[in-house]
Amino acid sequence: MADLKPFTFIIFGGTGDLAVRKLIPALYNLYIEGNIEIPFSVIGISRKPMTHQQYADFFVEGVKKFSRNKYEEEVYKKMAASFYYISGDLQQDNTYHNLIDILNKVEGEEKNRLFYLATTPEFFPVVVENLTKHGILLKGAVKPWHRIIIEKPFGSDLESARLLNQRLERLVDDFQMYRIDHYLGKEAVQNFLVLRFANGIFEPLWNNKHVDHIQITVSETVGVGNRGRYYEHAGAAKDMLQNHILQLLSLIAMEPPVDFDAASIAAEKVKVIRALRLFSENAIVRGQYQGYTAEKEVAPASTVETFIAAKLEIHNWRWAGIPIYVRTGKYLKEKKTEIVIQFKNTPYNLYKNNNIGPNRLVIAIDPKTGFDLQFNVKEPVRGDVKIRGVKMNFCHECEFGDNTPEAYERLLLDAILGDATLFTSWKEVEYSWMLAESIFAQYEGQMPHIYEKGSWGPEEADELLKQDERNWYYGDLRRNNANPCGNGCIQKQAGI
Ligand code: BG6
Repeated sequence: MADLKPFTFIIFGGTGDLAVRKLIPALYNLYIEGNIEIPFSVIGISRKPMTHQQYADFFVEGVKKFSRNKYEEEVYKKMAASFYYISGDLQQDNTYHNLIDILNKVEGEEKNRLFYLATTPEFFPVVVENLTKHGILLKGAVKPWHRIIIEKPFGSDLESARLLNQRLERLVDDFQMYRIDHYLGKEAVQNFLVLRFANGIFEPLWNNKHVDHIQITVSETVGVGNRGRYYEHAGAAKDMLQNHILQLLSLIAMEPPVDFDAASIAAEKVKVIRALRLFSENAIVRGQYQGYTAEKEVAPASTVETFIAAKLEIHNWRWAGIPIYVRTGKYLKEKKTEIVIQFKNTPYNLYKNNNIGPNRLVIAIDPKTGFDLQFNVKEPVRGDVKIRGVKMNFCHECEFGDNTPEAYERLLLDAILGDATLFTSWKEVEYSWMLAESIFAQYEGQMPHIYEKGSWGPEEADELLKQDERNWYYGDLRRNNANPCGNGCIQKQAGI
C-alpha cells in the first residue's frame, strides 16, 4: 500500500446518486482490498434529515448493488462506523459550524481533508467560499493536505467555466483542485497509453501518412432518466462531447509526453485540444430520441440533442487532413465506448477479384475492454485466391479476469494520494469549451433530427461518413465468452 495518512472524506451532495452508485461503493472496494485503511471518516452533507446511523445504513443497498466486491456486512460495518451526516443548507453558516464540530470530533493529529463537490454546479463556488471563510479548507494546504474534487460539468459554457475557475483560484491553489472526468480512470483508457507508448510498432503508423481516419463512439442504451432538468441545459454536446470524448481523443492523438506526471501529460493533451476544429462548416449531426420531450422536467418543445455526431480535424503536422468522426447518444442500440483507428488501404489492389477490407486497430473501452488488430488472410480454398478479414485480439477480461477496479476507485485513491495525472487541467477544460462553443454556434436554436430508440441515431449521422465514402464501424466486438480469446490468438471474424 502507498504511504497513506488518515483523512476525512467530505461529500457535498452526500445522499445523491453519485454517492450511492459510485463514491461509497468505490470507497468500500478500496477498503476491502486494503488500499485504504482506518482511520478515515466520511462526512456526508445534504438536505435530507438523517442521523449518522441512518446515513451509514443508507448505502448498504448501493454497496450490494454497485460494488465490484461482494458486500460483507462485517467489513462494511467497520468502515461505516465512522460515517457522519449533516443535514443542512449549503448557504447557511450553521452547516459549516456543524462540519467543524464533527471534524473536531473525528480528526486526530492529521487533518487531511478531501472535499467532493457532488452537488449541482451552481453550488460549487458557494461551498468552496464557505469552506474557506470558516477556515475548514485552507489555500495552499499541503501538510495536512486539503484537496477538492470537482464533478463535471466544470461550467456550462466558456464564460461560466472561466468565472468559476477565477472564483475558485482565489480561494484555493490550482494543485488542490482535482477536476474529475471519470473516463480517465477507466482501465482501458490507461491501457491505450501503454499500447501507444510501451510498443514500438504503432508509433511509425500513428499519423496522417498511414491513418485513413479515426472513429470514436460513446453510445448508451439508457435515456436521460430522472436527470431531465440537468440535461435540458447540457444535451449530448456538453454532457459527453465537450469532456469525455475530447479527453479520449486527446490521449489518442497526443505526442509522447516527456514524463507521465500530471503536468507533462496535460501539456500534450492541451496541444491537441487547442488544435482541434470542425472539419468543415456544418460537419455536425444532432439527434433527439423519440419521446425525449415527454421525459420528466423536459420542455415540450425542447431542441436539446440526445445524440451528436461530428467530423473533426486536428490542425497539426501529425494529423492534418485526417477526419476524426465522433458520436455519442442516449437510447442507442448498444452500450459501448470504442475507438477505431482505420489505416489507409494498400496503394494498389493486386487481388483483383477480392474486395480487400481495411486494416483497423479497434480499442474497446466499455463494457468489454481490449484491442483488435484487423488484417487480411487467405482462405484455404482451391482455385482463385479468396481473402477475408480476421482479427488479432487482446481481451482484458480473458487475460486478467473481470475484477478490474472501476474508474472512481482509481480516481479517489489518486486524489487521496495527491496524484492529479488522471484529472483534467484548467487549460484542457478551457480549450475544450472553446471548441465546444464553435460547435454550438453552428446549430443554435435548430431542431435536432428525431431518431428511434434502439437505433444508431439519425440516418444523417451515417451520411456524415457516407459522403466521404466511409462507414461507421459496426463490427461485432463483444467477446465470445464460450470461446474466450487470449492474448495474441487469432479469431475468425465474419464480415470485416
Ligand atoms: C456521465 C454523463 O458523465 O457519463 C452521463 O453525465 C452518462 O449522462 C455517463 O450516462 C456515462 O458514463 P459511463 O461510464 O457509463 O460510460
